[in-house]
Amino acid sequence: MPEKPAILKLDDKEFVLPVLVGSEGERAVDVRTLRDTTGHITFDDGYGNTGACESGVTFIDGEKGILRYRGYSIEELAEKSTFIETAYLLIYGQLPSAAQLAAFKERILDNAQVHEGLRIALSGFPSTAHPMAVLSATLNTLGCYYPELGTNERAHDLAQLDEAAAVLISKVRTLAALAHRAKEGQPPVYPKPGLNYCGNFLHLMFSQPNADSEIHPEVAKALDLILLLHADHEQNCSTSTVRMVASGGANLFASVSAGVCALWGPLHGGANQAVIEMLEEIHRSGDDGSRFIAAAKDKSSGVRLMGFGHRVYKNYDPRAKIIKAQCDKVLKVLGRKDPLLDIAMRLEDAALNDPYFKQRNLYPNVDFYSGIILKAIGIPSEMFTVIFAIGRMPGWISHWKEIAEAPKQKIHRPRQVYVGETLRSYVPIEKRG
Ligand code: ACO
Repeated sequence: MPEKPAILKLDDKEFVLPVLVGSEGERAVDVRTLRDTTGHITFDDGYGNTGACESGVTFIDGEKGILRYRGYSIEELAEKSTFIETAYLLIYGQLPSAAQLAAFKERILDNAQVHEGLRIALSGFPSTAHPMAVLSATLNTLGCYYPELGTNERAHDLAQLDEAAAVLISKVRTLAALAHRAKEGQPPVYPKPGLNYCGNFLHLMFSQPNADSEIHPEVAKALDLILLLHADHEQNCSTSTVRMVASGGANLFASVSAGVCALWGPLHGGANQAVIEMLEEIHRSGDDGSRFIAAAKDKSSGVRLMGFGHRVYKNYDPRAKIIKAQCDKVLKVLGRKDPLLDIAMRLEDAALNDPYFKQRNLYPNVDFYSGIILKAIGIPSEMFTVIFAIGRMPGWISHWKEIAEAPKQKIHRPRQVYVGETLRSYVPIEKRG
């Protein structure tokens, strides 16, 4: 039975608005004809109530703490899949056969190296450059080395997507490691064919030209899990940015490079760096966490409990649960104890029992514990958001593909409620006060 429409009453006139129902039962009032029929637009600052698209990639139920990629629960994928298999699932919509997975992996491996010109360009950034700035710039530059993969001609770019996706998934990791090495003033090392995706990343980050660093398989596995958990998260700030840029017809390289910029902010992907800095500051100051919690509740302090709260989750972020369990494992494997983990657990316990956080449904998000694992692996905090970007690449590609394949190509162009000056006359400079 078709869903009953919504009736909107404006100036004593009634307007019928269809109601759309998603495959998981979410309902949306379809306002696509609203402006034409009523002369009104909707107002939704921050888009909290706006469905900007139909998407078949990821499903989230924030109230229940559910996250699924292409219908598979994040818990099951975290336990049974790998980042690369999950990347395939996100981009192509189905789990790969053994032959499809082998071909996908081979394509990624074949693309592990970056061009010498790009490597030289990377070494030219100042050592003060944040690796997210370097990553965004070099991902866009990467497209210049593949003019045939990113032409801004939609049908052509879509036909080349298999190769463009492999180039980006593979090289984002190499570029990230090179950005780190350039900053540290270290010479580059080259990818090794025998290593898997994360093993190669750790090698590219930490090996020396004449001395390969030892790659602990459990550490590579933990990193793989972190990437898998970050691989997509439906219409968040960076993915919406990728979709927005893509909607104008821009190629995949340009679109994901914009996604990196959007991810960088501390309210989004930059939170993982901010969490570890917060924990270090609490540790340095000798606070047991209670002073920080008090400051986070005080609006005049400008302080937030980083890694807590989420626009969509009003429950425990399912990714945070998985990462928290992994924290213990990694520290054990590496024979480390990190006082920051104790502080994080104390903060979590205090916040979850505090009326301020309870009333606002603020729970740990994916960033709360991920930094502790990354720090244990030896990844510097400035690289944390870069790791997030490597993980999110398959998600961005899937959303770019969804936009590119849409039967009706429509540029994203929101409206506004203008609240500025009304028409006024230009005043010559000598007559201005
Ligand atoms: N610490 C203290 N108070 C908080 C926090 C926090 N971490 N998060 C939200 N609040 C409070 C707000 O002050 C607000 O209080 P009020 O109702 O009294 O004004 C209320 O909770 C709602 O917060 P909003 O900012 O309106 O919620 P929104 O959905 O816009 O923001 C966000 C979500 C940005 C994630 C926010 O919770 C936050 O800033 N968290 C810390 C940063 C962080 O961890 N970001 C990573 C998110 S996950 C990701 O992007 C991968």
